[in-house]
Amino acid sequence: RVTRHYKFNIKSQSVTRLCKTKSIITVNGQFPGPRIIAREGDRLVIKVVNHVQNNVTLHWHGIRQLRSGWADGPSYITQCPIQTGQSYVYNFTIIGQRGTLWWHAHISWLRATLYGPIVILPKKHVPYPFPQPFKEVPIIFGEWWKADTETVINQGLQTGSGPNVSDAYTINGLPGPLYNCSAKDTYKLKVKPGKTYLLRLINAALNNELFFSIANHTFTVVEADAVYVKPFNTKVVLITPGQTTNVILRTKSKSPNATFVMAARPYVSGPAAFDNSTTTGLLEYETSVSSKHNKNKNKKKLPLLTPVLPKLNDTSFSMNYNKKIRSLANPKFPSANVPKTVDKNFFFTVGLGLTSCSKNQNCPGPNNTRVAAAINNVSFVQPNTALLQAHFFNKSKGVYTTDFPANPLIKFNYTGTPPSNIALSSGTKVVVLPFNTRVELVLQDTSIIGAESHPLHLHGFNFFVVGFGFGNFDPKNDPKKYNLVDPAERNTVGVPSGGWVALRFLADNPGVWFMHCHLEVHTSWGLKMAWVVTDGKRRNQKLPPPPSDLPKC
Ligand code: C2O
Repeated sequence: RVTRHYKFNIKSQSVTRLCKTKSIITVNGQFPGPRIIAREGDRLVIKVVNHVQNNVTLHWHGIRQLRSGWADGPSYITQCPIQTGQSYVYNFTIIGQRGTLWWHAHISWLRATLYGPIVILPKKHVPYPFPQPFKEVPIIFGEWWKADTETVINQGLQTGSGPNVSDAYTINGLPGPLYNCSAKDTYKLKVKPGKTYLLRLINAALNNELFFSIANHTFTVVEADAVYVKPFNTKVVLITPGQTTNVILRTKSKSPNATFVMAARPYVSGPAAFDNSTTTGLLEYETSVSSKHNKNKNKKKLPLLTPVLPKLNDTSFSMNYNKKIRSLANPKFPSANVPKTVDKNFFFTVGLGLTSCSKNQNCPGPNNTRVAAAINNVSFVQPNTALLQAHFFNKSKGVYTTDFPANPLIKFNYTGTPPSNIALSSGTKVVVLPFNTRVELVLQDTSIIGAESHPLHLHGFNFFVVGFGFGNFDPKNDPKKYNLVDPAERNTVGVPSGGWVALRFLADNPGVWFMHCHLEVHTSWGLKMAWVVTDGKRRNQKLPPPPSDLPKC
């Protein structure tokens, strides 16, 4: 086993985009942040030193953190923030995972600029279940605001109205030429003809699911959320915030001098306020030696081909795309060890809306606003101390309660017409799961404002997506159609707008695990909750005590 050390200095850096310079928070002055690279089975030791005024935590999105919950990172869930001048060492081992994941800040909206890829290679001498690529390239989608993002979200929280949408989407930190004042900030991927490239796609955008495509090229999807999938071809990838997707790109055998446009723009299932702009980059074929010689003679300007992306609200594309994501489920990768039977069923409604309280007084939203987001009509209130510490030291009193409802407080019936009140109460409520509980969790979208699909992310586990559909979940008939053979195994799933998704997972990881919408604005409004998984009986089923440098609140 190899131990890999990283030092992450959190510091400010001036960055110019769209003709405006602002100071952003970065790791080591880099934007996007540095890439972490490791192999399955390696230990990572990442020392984070905070040199800025803001409190910071970092999260290793999708890393299971088996019995290392102290290193998970969501602020006030597994740790108190790292304060100015302080440091914390994130120390964890990558067990049973290989593929693309990513890291990001997990406090307020700092992840707008604090993010980077995690590349986990298979163990030494273990090949990919697909041809070894000629080159591997991380491609991270993001969002850029000209204004300071902490100011943007604070306005949103105080007024209870939507925070300003971003000014641009980005590919590897660059908006591309379709935005004003951005032509020189264009991501270029230089390729050779006739080769295979593994593109490691990551959606780090704060608030938008994205379609991605490259003109005149087809991708083969081979992995989602660091789990190999049955390969399938597609011209367009759909990726929600939090998700990662590995695709193989075969370059054309003869395309000297050709350049193709790559583009990403949102998938929005409803008429929400959004930014429907497009970020573009370039796929540039290297000039072959012979054409270099004849440079002046041969160079004809070819018109750039632009990809065709689905319509903004193309939900049938989204449904069909998600249906294709299946675990390999072969003897070598028997990843589909999906729980065949269930110990505990949960039915959670997820949504947001205007609550029927009067004028922002004692309303369930953050800062008593009328806009709230909720799971099972509970809008989550962030505690002042970390839940994991409270749990570990038996000091939950006054920090959290264990009465998070297994079913919605207000009976839900999807009719297409929004109910007027979704968030009935607020509180810091958790569900306690005894070690090794086999859980089934149905997430039902309530589609109240904006009718967006919600990308729900679960920390500490991969879950199996055993079913999904439109309308109301039918507890009698829908389970009969579950896929228990090769369901997708992932850490983030889009709950379809006006529909449901059924998940199963085994609660084999003791600790406190956050679950939330990965649309940052919805998380800020309360669309989040936490699971407490108790220790098992055996020694290797218990959460070890916290490291001595765990930050204090
Ligand atoms: Cu990618 Cu809780 O986050």
